[in-house]
Amino acid sequence: LDSINAKSLHTKSERTCSIDRGKHKAVCKIAILGFGTVGSAVARILAEHAPDHLRLIHICNRDVNRKKVDWIPPQVQWTERFNDVLSSDADVIVELIGGLQPAEDWIRCALLAGKSVVTANKQVIADCGPELLNLAKQRNCRLAFGAAVAGGVPVISAIQDGLAGDEISKICGILNGTCNYILSEMGDSGATFTTALVEAQKRGYAEADPREDIDGLDARAKLAILARIGLHAKVCTTRIFCRAISAIEPVDFEFAKQLGCTIRQVSTAELNKGVLFAAVQPALVALSSPFGLARGSQNIVVCTGKFGGETTFQGLGAGGNPTAVAVVSDILAMAANTNVSSNGVSPSHDISPRVSNDFVTSHYVRFSTSHTMRAVSALVKALETSKINVGSVLANRSRSSKFSAVTVQACTPSALQKALKQGRPSDIFQFYRIIPILN
Ligand SMILES: NC(=O)c1ccc[n+]([C@@H]2O[C@H](COP(=O)([O-])OP(=O)(O)OC[C@H]3O[C@@H](n4cnc5c(N)ncnc54)[C@H](OP(=O)(O)O)[C@@H]3O)[C@@H](O)[C@H]2O)c1
Repeated sequence: LDSINAKSLHTKSERTCSIDRGKHKAVCKIAILGFGTVGSAVARILAEHAPDHLRLIHICNRDVNRKKVDWIPPQVQWTERFNDVLSSDADVIVELIGGLQPAEDWIRCALLAGKSVVTANKQVIADCGPELLNLAKQRNCRLAFGAAVAGGVPVISAIQDGLAGDEISKICGILNGTCNYILSEMGDSGATFTTALVEAQKRGYAEADPREDIDGLDARAKLAILARIGLHAKVCTTRIFCRAISAIEPVDFEFAKQLGCTIRQVSTAELNKGVLFAAVQPALVALSSPFGLARGSQNIVVCTGKFGGETTFQGLGAGGNPTAVAVVSDILAMAANTNVSSNGVSPSHDISPRVSNDFVTSHYVRFSTSHTMRAVSALVKALETSKINVGSVLANRSRSSKFSAVTVQACTPSALQKALKQGRPSDIFQFYRIIPILN
């Protein structure tokens, strides 16, 4: 057995940096592409805390002169040409420039050259992760992306390795720190969406153009990756339903509070009878639940398995240092020649399910009316005709407010919308918001 292991280790190590030669590990040479928030934090860890066998040799960034800092060892070469990195003897290329291009091309070139790649790039991995993993396999090198989802929370390796023995049916999470900051700020201080967004931008939690976050596109890419690794479901990101958080108003938090709830951007992927129910949207969550308690850039991922029940992972989902920890952990796993979990993905076993956002769940419905009693009884009647039950009628605490709200018991959003459309006496009220309530 020992000789078989030794043989397979030797074969594996031909192109990696991880040959364990007795007591002395071979040096693993690393090049970083992108010296921004995460890239500089990775470089700092490698410069100050890394074990001897990890050696940073190149840093590549456009207009590189303005990036140079004195704490990087003088042996490290700064360059603005990717080809310098590609033709170097780097074993691992760490892609941290972000975006689809040229990141995708650079990752592909690195793998084709037999160099292993570590990336935090959710867009590239959501778009062509399985194809790049196959390429890595063909070229006998590795691709790891532990930082691409939930930043510093090692949820990818936890799902792939720690929960490998279970059959996961559902993954639900808070995956975007910007939205979480804005919604927790609105819930805590009563701020409007715009005020909370401006505050998030001032504090560096939100980009100048925050649409990727606010509209749910960032969380959607992460959810597609989680669905792939946890549910073995191939899903094109654009097929995942997204609803922006910008439509949420302070009055929604007031009503939610009456139900013991608050509002968060929740990403859910659930496999049921061959259909993948997937969505990124604002949802009512219990104030005392892990989702309700999450603040700022905290991310949470809850996995539900057939045998192991619910397992929750939680921690800092963004920021240079937490994300750099995930990146350096992937580098260390490669250098130790341990099974970097992302290489365990087996695209051949993945399914391509129908994708739907028609989850059966209870809902909160907010509307405006000048005749609350008449409106509620008309609403109850309309919903009952469609066999949808009203759960509770929420009190309007402010006399000046024109809004009222009800909750309805479990139904699909499509059935609810149809019932509301059919039975809507538009002279009495107008619907403003339908938000799912997650238990
Ligand atoms: N920041 C986080 O909290 C976080 C968390 C999880 C994952 N991530 C992921 O980590 C990656 C990096 O994010 P980041 O926040 O570090 O981004 P960032 O601060 O914008 O850093 C990107 C760096 O790459 C450089 N760059 C961009 N395009 C380039 C090109 N074509 N050629 C050469 N250099 C280029 C940029 O140079 P300039 O200075 O000229 O712009 C910048 O220094 C992204 O994929 C992101 O999604 C980030």
